[in-house]
Amino acid sequence: MTVKCIASMAALALLMSVITSAVAAEKVQGDPAKAESIVASACASCHGLDGNSPVPGFPKLAGQSPVYLLRELKEFKLEHRKSEAMTPFIANLSEEDQANLALYFAAQKPTPGVVTKPELVAAGKKIYLEGNSDSGVPSCDGCHSESGAGSDRFPRVAGQDVEYTLAQIKLYAQHVRKYGIKAMRIVAERLTDLEAEAVAQYLASLK
Ligand code: HEC
Ligand code: HEC
Repeated sequence: MTVKCIASMAALALLMSVITSAVAAEKVQGDPAKAESIVASACASCHGLDGNSPVPGFPKLAGQSPVYLLRELKEFKLEHRKSEAMTPFIANLSEEDQANLALYFAAQKPTPGVVTKPELVAAGKKIYLEGNSDSGVPSCDGCHSESGAGSDRFPRVAGQDVEYTLAQIKLYAQHVRKYGIKAMRIVAERLTDLEAEAVAQYLASLK
């Protein structure tokens, strides 16, 4: 491991401790039952009525933190995070609708993910729990938690769709998705294509 690499790992460890010790995000207030008709008419075709997307490549929302979901809806609405698929469906949602939707999807039960390349799962587990000290990739569990269930600050990644995870890693690496802290950008830039694919397979395998 090079000195530069050790220094960058140390910087990232510091960054992680700053982030994980920061004050808890505010609770989302609202009524998930009021989101039901919007879910059925505007979201279910792509994300499923129960937040388990039937379409490969589309993210699972079930069991995700409501704080994270609301934050991302706002990011799409402000077009800080761009998605041709999403934008037309959220353009007319009020802040209240967005909060209700976030609570609705957060309360759904996530179904198991679909592993498409089982031979990569073990290598992906190693990246997730240990990172890669040679290239300065930090482990993922420090932020996303060992189970992948995440928290208000760090999204749930367990059981997520492989294609979606890979697409997001690419968007971070290309600086297209750049909300908030730089951490994911640094992580994504350092992962090789094979490591990204392996870790995406491991995430899909997590219950
Ligand atoms: C036409 C398909 C489609 C519809 C309809 C749709 N979405 Fe999405 N949604 C997507 C896609 C594709 C993404 C991933 C975008 C990207 O690549 O960043 C996404 C991403 C999201 C995310 C971010 C997930 C994450 O893990 O970061 C949230 C939250 C979300 N959608 C909520 C909704 C809600 C609420 C509705 C209904 C009001 C809705 N979506 C309707 C396709 C759709
Ligand atoms: C220092 C903390 C930190 C580390 C380490 C970290 N992440 Fe993240 N990750 C985040 C944060 C914060 C977000 C949400 C950022 C945003 O809002 O775009 C995120 C987002 C993601 C997303 C997008 C989730 C979604 O639903 O759209 C994926 C996938 C992801 N991380 C995978 C990983 C993997 C794989 C690793 C390890 C190789 C990793 N992360 C390491 C903090 C971290």
